[in-house]
Amino acid sequence: MRRYLITGGAGFIGSHLVSGLLLRGDFVTVIDDLSTGNWGNIASFESNEKFRAIIASADERLLMEREVSRHDFVYHLASAVGVKLIIERPVETVQRIVRTMDVLVDVCMRYRVPLLLTSTSEVYGKSDRVPFSEDNDITLGATSKRRWAYASAKMLDEFLALAHYYQTSLPVFIVRLFNTVGPKQTGQYGMVMPRFINAAIKNEPLEIYGDGNQQRCFCSVFDIVEALLKFDSTPQAIGQVINLGSNEEISIRQLAEKIIDIVKSKSKLKFISYEEAYGLGFDDMRRRVPDLTKAKRILNWQPKITLDEIITQIYNQIKKDKN
Ligand SMILES: NC(=O)c1ccc[n+]([C@@H]2O[C@H](COP(=O)([O-])OP(=O)(O)OC[C@H]3O[C@@H](n4cnc5c(N)ncnc54)[C@H](O)[C@@H]3O)[C@@H](O)[C@H]2O)c1
Repeated sequence: MRRYLITGGAGFIGSHLVSGLLLRGDFVTVIDDLSTGNWGNIASFESNEKFRAIIASADERLLMEREVSRHDFVYHLASAVGVKLIIERPVETVQRIVRTMDVLVDVCMRYRVPLLLTSTSEVYGKSDRVPFSEDNDITLGATSKRRWAYASAKMLDEFLALAHYYQTSLPVFIVRLFNTVGPKQTGQYGMVMPRFINAAIKNEPLEIYGDGNQQRCFCSVFDIVEALLKFDSTPQAIGQVINLGSNEEISIRQLAEKIIDIVKSKSKLKFISYEEAYGLGFDDMRRRVPDLTKAKRILNWQPKITLDEIITQIYNQIKKDKN
């Protein structure tokens, strides 16, 4: 039995990771301040004697000293997330991401506890060289465009992790997650999949930002968790940056149509300009596709769950929660 600490474990991906680790028989501690996460995501684990949760911020140094030193491995998922939140609360976004990582990497170094950082495909910025490969050069937008604050803060976290790997030999793992979706994800902070499915269930318009021709790849959280569970036993992944996601593209307009079809909804599509949705100065990328060669080679992983299956799972979960 191994002991895992998950920052951000009451969030969407974190709570599925808790489930995967407990199923494997491991001991799990979650540290989450519930800023975007929710107790309901982890409430069902409360009776499991191998599970603990601490409601606190992962940038509290004394707490992190105590907790990290008691664990064998740290998954760092705590972060400000969601384009809407990032545009509306840029100060908290940058400070939350950078401060937490700063504390965590120091403490992990002190107790020599391996650290996995969940970074993001946002760090590929405005690059149009798809698929995105981990060692590609990166072009970000201007600092006046607030969305790039998230990418820059996450990039700084990556630099910090890699700096420790080179300078102090801390075992670090960096995962660049592409759009991850599944049951329990909230649409509150701008995530497109839960927003669309909830609107379709209510027969309300599906609001598409921009012209809807921007393409994305959606990966099931269950596939992502399967990959995350492999890192601890994959020494070849130490000091590496690895993309995780799906490489099956779909336009946002096609996604909306697919959801209407699966949900058998009467909803219509409603197009909204980026300015109206996010205010002036918003930048978007047309395509975002991961190169998954490294994930396949190092982790022997590739996503398996189709988009239709993902939408059906989310839809069924929402229906179940409502009854
Ligand atoms: N979902 C995606 O598509 C996606 C894509 C790329 C990267 N990621 C990354 O994956 C991670 C998890 O994302 P998610 O989608 O589950 O989001 P989420 O908002 O559901 O989870 C983040 C969790 O971190 C908690 N948190 C934030 N700051 C904290 C702090 N200082 N201390 C303690 N807890 C804190 C929140 O309350 C929340 O529970 C994040 O690091 C995110 O950047 C997610």
